[in-house]
Amino acid sequence: MVAMALATDIGLGAPLESGLRICLLSMRLAEAMDLPEGERRRVYYLALLRHIGCTVRSEDMVRLVGDELVASPRLAPLDLADPRQFLPVAVRLLREQFPGAGFPPALVRMIASAKGMKESAAAMCEVAQMLAERMGFDGVLQRDITAFPERWDGKGTPGRARGEDLSPPVRVVQLAEGVALLHRVGDEESAMAAVRARRGRMYAPDAVDAFLRRPRDILSATEVPSVWDAVIEASPSDEGPLEDDRLDNSLRAMADFADLKSKYLVGHSRGVARLGADAARTLGMPEDDVAAVYRAGLVHDLGRVGVSTSVWAKTGPLSLDEWERVRMHSYYTDRILSRPEALRRMGALASTHHERLDASGYFRSLPAHQQPATSRVLAAADTFHAMTEPRPHRPAMAPELAAGELRRDVEAGRLDSDASEAAVEAAGQRGRRTRPQGAGLTAREVEVLRLAARGASIREIARTLVIAPKTADAHLQHIYSKAGVSTRAAATLFAMQHDLLEPSPG
Ligand SMILES: [Fe+2]
Repeated sequence: MVAMALATDIGLGAPLESGLRICLLSMRLAEAMDLPEGERRRVYYLALLRHIGCTVRSEDMVRLVGDELVASPRLAPLDLADPRQFLPVAVRLLREQFPGAGFPPALVRMIASAKGMKESAAAMCEVAQMLAERMGFDGVLQRDITAFPERWDGKGTPGRARGEDLSPPVRVVQLAEGVALLHRVGDEESAMAAVRARRGRMYAPDAVDAFLRRPRDILSATEVPSVWDAVIEASPSDEGPLEDDRLDNSLRAMADFADLKSKYLVGHSRGVARLGADAARTLGMPEDDVAAVYRAGLVHDLGRVGVSTSVWAKTGPLSLDEWERVRMHSYYTDRILSRPEALRRMGALASTHHERLDASGYFRSLPAHQQPATSRVLAAADTFHAMTEPRPHRPAMAPELAAGELRRDVEAGRLDSDASEAAVEAAGQRGRRTRPQGAGLTAREVEVLRLAARGASIREIARTLVIAPKTADAHLQHIYSKAGVSTRAAATLFAMQHDLLEPSPG
């Protein structure tokens, strides 16, 4: 969960360990408010997981404010319901991000999209709740997470809760986050003044009062030699290490969190994990290595969240600067998973997925002798699987064509021959298996869902499946009700979790 908090920091353009600092502030504030044990446990996990749905908004953010990793940290410390705070920053952001586009149209579009942003906020909450559920958290914590973007005065998003509706853990973590953000952009005095001004508006009066009674004491919670160690130390005492099942479920949730960054990526990480594990098994690798490849496959692209969706979604060639940013993503994967030891090993393997045998890969440019068999299998599985998925600049490649491309990489000395052949073989075997298409949906509904998950509009779905737009819409509504969700983003996550994205040849 601490690793998840680091991933969220990177995904929000915040300094690394921001979430951990907020966790420590929250725990100290909970203590000051004398919250009972059970609520303190919720405070702890809420602080770490509070923005777990954030990647699902990336595409909307990019459309409205440009680079989401630039915009998020600038908007985060503001009271967004106060136009005097919000407008000047928005104006500056839009001028920087859309220099040629004419500023008034950009602002008009931003204001006109307020409704769309509500839908995207609702999607963020639904997705966050589903991910928390996957990680094994109960309904109470799931509700805390969905209520987190709300405000005391009801002007939060999606605007379904206010005042006493907000649980004490939500009030505590909201304030702790605000204090941390304000403290980062200003000094202690200005942070206290801003918190006072937001009492009863953004933040709950009881939480603000508790903070203002002993601000120094609460702020000092983060003045420790290692924030990471302090957070581990503060973890609720009843928890041992995760069982294998829950660990895998958590890693799958992390995979989905990363893939929601762009519609082109949905299902990528799970697909690479499966293909990599199948290829490793084809090669007769020991079960421990098969499991290591599977888990590394799930988390290999976690670092993608640290690169703007505007880069991942670009249709034209990347600039030098954008290419540098792309190369950073496997480094971020390594950093997110740098502790503890078990995750570090997973991260070390995962972050080699773009290494090449001729040392032309990234981010370490490792020579061949430093790439173990597990790395080679992971690299082959990632390359093959990515080719069979659509990307902004090209449609999905047929498996036979992808196999040809992979063999060209082998001939050029970039990919391992055995690992690549195993990946191709594993993909073929996988193709011959019929996967059950359950999840309570009909075959037609699965087709509709698959297209929607990849970003097709109702009109495009109707055209592709040769049905009336009204019928396509009715199918989509029916899928929502079966999945128990109300937004397309949540339905996409549902499809990922039920393995419905790849066509079953059977
Ligand atoms: Fe990657």
